[in-house]
Amino acid sequence: MDFIIVDNYEEMSKRARDIFVEKVNKKPNAVLGLATGSTPERFYELLIDAYKQNNVSFENATSFNLDEYVGVSPDNSQSYHHYMNEKLFNHINLPAKQANLPEGETEDLQEACNKYEEKIKNAGGVDLQLLGIGLNGHIGFNEPGTPFDQETHVVDLAPSTREANARFFDSIDEVPTKAITMGIKTIMQSKQIVLLISGEKKADCLYQLVNDPISEDFPASILREHPNVTIIADKAAASKINK
Ligand code: GLP
Repeated sequence: MDFIIVDNYEEMSKRARDIFVEKVNKKPNAVLGLATGSTPERFYELLIDAYKQNNVSFENATSFNLDEYVGVSPDNSQSYHHYMNEKLFNHINLPAKQANLPEGETEDLQEACNKYEEKIKNAGGVDLQLLGIGLNGHIGFNEPGTPFDQETHVVDLAPSTREANARFFDSIDEVPTKAITMGIKTIMQSKQIVLLISGEKKADCLYQLVNDPISEDFPASILREHPNVTIIADKAAASKINK
């Protein structure tokens, strides 16, 4: 695991932008794995700036997002489809048909999972996957206890994850109880992974990621077995591992 510790959120976002821009410039048809949450918001703004300044083109790239809520339509403002359109896709030249998210509003969820996994494989797998991390160590929506060998699947969201994400909804009752997520196996098959972690409230989380035994109890711990992971942490998030 490569570790980059930077001063603050802005620097973390810039480092991530540099890695993504470099990848797409080297491989214009790169397959990018994308994430939602507050952590990558600035990274997406910087990626848009890079595109607007003609430093990168996404015309031939493909993207796959990690996850989507079940039962939330793509035009609902709480959906991850909506998040991605607002924060990135509406502002860059990635063709809509090349931007993929799991289909959370469908009758046959299992089929949606299988189709998504197949699409990723048909695209040649993810070249560069962006990850955030939940306070309980979840990546995508792989909550503690998720078997490491799972591909894209439906999950029951942990009460703590629903609470953490309630800030995006009017009330906790509106937070969906289920989601579709790439599995740990799917994530581990990406050729390269960049995990962003920022802020003091994630300091324990980063400590656990680095020091806890590799176990399904803390899903992100599996990343220590991946051959090409870069963790970009700001000082606040890294405050407990520096001591
Ligand atoms: C959500 C997403 C994850 C994300 C995590 C952390 O639950 N499904 O992909 O990494 O939250 O979010 P934040 O960056 O807002 O802390």
